Amino acid sequence: MIFRQLFDSVSGTYTYLLASRRGGEALIIDPVLEKVDRYIQLVNELDLKLVKAVDTHLHADHVTGLGALRDRTRCITVMGERSKVDVVSMRLSESDKLTIEGVALDVLYTPGHTDDSYSFAMRDRVFTGDTLLIRGTGRTDFQNGDARAQYDSIFNKLLRLPDETMIFPAHDYKGETVSTIGEEKAFNPRLQVKSVDEYAELMSNLNLPNPKMMDVAVPANMRVGLPQDEIARRGWAVSAAQAMALIGGPDVTLVDLRERTEREKHGIIPGSLHALYPDLAAIVRPGGMLHELARATGKRIVFYCAVGERSAMAVQTAQDAGLASACHIQGGIDAWKNADGPLTR
Ligand SMILES: [Fe+2]
Repeated sequence: MIFRQLFDSVSGTYTYLLASRRGGEALIIDPVLEKVDRYIQLVNELDLKLVKAVDTHLHADHVTGLGALRDRTRCITVMGERSKVDVVSMRLSESDKLTIEGVALDVLYTPGHTDDSYSFAMRDRVFTGDTLLIRGTGRTDFQNGDARAQYDSIFNKLLRLPDETMIFPAHDYKGETVSTIGEEKAFNPRLQVKSVDEYAELMSNLNLPNPKMMDVAVPANMRVGLPQDEIARRGWAVSAAQAMALIGGPDVTLVDLRERTEREKHGIIPGSLHALYPDLAAIVRPGGMLHELARATGKRIVFYCAVGERSAMAVQTAQDAGLASACHIQGGIDAWKNADGPLTR
């Protein structure tokens, strides 16, 4: 496995790059906007392909690199389903898996620092965001933080992982880079409490100043969505209602770009093909399956995904590859559901 821990010294943020060779798919956790050039350089140096960029929660101390990474690499942006950000390409919930080729992370909903905090666990390590830090825990006094929820997330989820599990947090301000569950159980001063009440009391007496960047970072991080209007302005989008009139007709092929778990959870538009978003460039280029299908049949390709972000990027990729009829369902399966479009499982 390829694993890199990257540091932003301004905000004290750790960013993690993960990959497992073969096709070189890579995943980045908690990227910082100012460091995006560095991440892309490293991804190129290691001959990887960034396919997912994930935030553990809505950050208050730095502007996320999610939007910039998506714009520059067309990667999928991912957050938890409780996040209030306007648009990310994919949302995960407890017990889902966050996957790239050769890597699968278990999604744990670990609220407390914020109400949209998630942790991601794999065999030997867990990415704890700001829920559990090294010899500390994330503050719970803003962004719908809740010390009692955090106690539950830490004691009833994270500390139940095997003692040797390595902890990689989103921040450290003292230069610590890694710990383990066993070490934190024994030595984290915030965890030496006898009850949830004692923990809540301890957390309510920290009296921390607000992060310097908070007034800038929170509003910026709320709006990481890809503007889908530009795609619509070019005539490359259909509304859910328009798409409903098209399905079943002879001139259209619908292509679902979501992952298997999303399809199982939310249903599929009847009659649609399935193509994984990371494989898209290969299938829309001349000689690729969709390119040849469109050319041979004259059918219009209509992409869709969860909220319209992956499909909007897919339209751009397909148009760049010469598929002039490609369009997408604006707003994705969310909009389709709101328009009472039919779904199968
Ligand atoms: Fe945070």
